[in-house]
Amino acid sequence: MNTYDQLYIDGQWVSPAKGGTFETIDPSDESVIARVAAATAEDIDAAVKAARHAFDEGSWPRLSGAERAAVLRRIAQGIRDRQDELARLEVRDNGKPLPEALWDIGDTAGCFDFYAGLAEKLDGNQEQEIELADERFNSVARKEPVGVAGAIIPWNFPMLMASWKVAPALAAGCTVVLKPSELTPLTALELARIADEAGLPAGVLNVVPGLGPDAGAPLAEHPGIDKLAFTGSVPTGSRIMQAAARDIKNISLELGGKSPFVIFADSDIAAAVEWILFGIFWNQGEVCSATSRVLVQRELYEPLLKRLAEEAQKITIGNGLEEGVLLGPLVNRTQYDKVLQAIARGREEGAQLVCGGDRPAGLHKGFYLQPTVFADVPEDSWIWNEEIFGPVVCVRPFDSEDEAVRAANASRFGLGAAVMSRVLERCERVARKFRAGIVWINCSQPTFTEAPWGGYKQSGIGRELGEWGLNNYLETKQITRYDSDQPWGWYIK
Ligand code: NAI
Ligand code: MG
Repeated sequence: MNTYDQLYIDGQWVSPAKGGTFETIDPSDESVIARVAAATAEDIDAAVKAARHAFDEGSWPRLSGAERAAVLRRIAQGIRDRQDELARLEVRDNGKPLPEALWDIGDTAGCFDFYAGLAEKLDGNQEQEIELADERFNSVARKEPVGVAGAIIPWNFPMLMASWKVAPALAAGCTVVLKPSELTPLTALELARIADEAGLPAGVLNVVPGLGPDAGAPLAEHPGIDKLAFTGSVPTGSRIMQAAARDIKNISLELGGKSPFVIFADSDIAAAVEWILFGIFWNQGEVCSATSRVLVQRELYEPLLKRLAEEAQKITIGNGLEEGVLLGPLVNRTQYDKVLQAIARGREEGAQLVCGGDRPAGLHKGFYLQPTVFADVPEDSWIWNEEIFGPVVCVRPFDSEDEAVRAANASRFGLGAAVMSRVLERCERVARKFRAGIVWINCSQPTFTEAPWGGYKQSGIGRELGEWGLNNYLETKQITRYDSDQPWGWYIK
């Protein structure tokens, strides 16, 4: 196995200035996988300076889109060439089942390919003429890279989240300092190796694992950063925003959620249950957009709960590398304890535990939890309102469409929302009433690199993916030319 005790700064593998390391563990058995280089403020400063130099003096922002695209496509190919190995590494570091990790790594490569395509499209479309009312002037709007981007990412989709930030940033012509989560830093370091082999110039991508306060905070505060892109919890997002406020850094934030799923009584019960399972048990429910609040129309409520509990209990739990496993361990002890506490709290608050809630029988080590379903969850309870970030779904009945929409929107979050009914007009109508950035009809969670991703309200600011993701890393410059034969004639007549 590769070693991970060095940082990738300015195209070199270097030991951290203070020589520190931290352990990353395999959550299936709590064993240590690797000792990882721990960046501190000095290393962050070196990484930002390298990225700054690569942006201000280097070739990368000055290449054509097609030239940058060629490198991005080689990165995509590098990821694909090692897809199986990377997926297995992701399983060990994060816990997720292998088929899900393979899906993630495939999407990661796809994200680099997609932004290669957008980089090519920038050529010839970088400048757009603007129709001015005053015909004495000509104006163009020109897109330019925003500069040095700092990317701070979470542990739930480690390599995929790296690609959602690094690929559009590189496509735009930005340079990047990437700080992966200290819980899952390994595939980000592999991405550095792949980018290096793909011929990405030195300093264009720097990868600096480390702890939040020691490495994330100095990155967020560094005056050499032009743009900060963050995915993670609301409290950390708020801290990042405050750090960015001092220098008026451009920010985009993708934060938590408590996404509703409204299911009307005419829905096919098997389809409804399938999408509920996919919406909350994929990735152990450690998904920002997980549909964790399910609202079911009264007539379907009892039969649906019965079927949901039956199907949830059939899910094979175990080490993500084992054949047939569909639910792996949670990412670490802290997250495990947090979810167990949420379950205890739900019981105290009077929600009815329909199934799960405990460590599965026979799995004595590792952070395993049964798929958990709560019904009749009080609307003012903690578990109905707060992000649990685990395999725990809360279900409530509703009677009318208006009631369902009101309950769905009664949240400080607004990331995802889903609706199911055979009546498509109703789905389309409800979809437009949701106050959320991502709305699914007759499904929940499928995610597409081409489509905008991000939240309303406290779920974030800005949109990733698609052309919106590229725009995150572009400034817009107005260039206006005085084009008249007549003198301006204000002071000098
Ligand atoms: P977090 O938001 O604290 O961590 C995300 C990233 O921010 C990591 O790379 C971390 O090192 C970094 N970070 C932490 N403190 C920082 C600081 N002061 N300045 C700059 N960067 C900092 O999330 P954490 O602690 O891993 O998980 C806590 C909870 O957050 C979870 O239980 C879950 O509810 C939520 N979460 C939400 C995610 C989402 O996708 N919306 C992803 C991960 C966690
Ligand atoms: Mg780990």
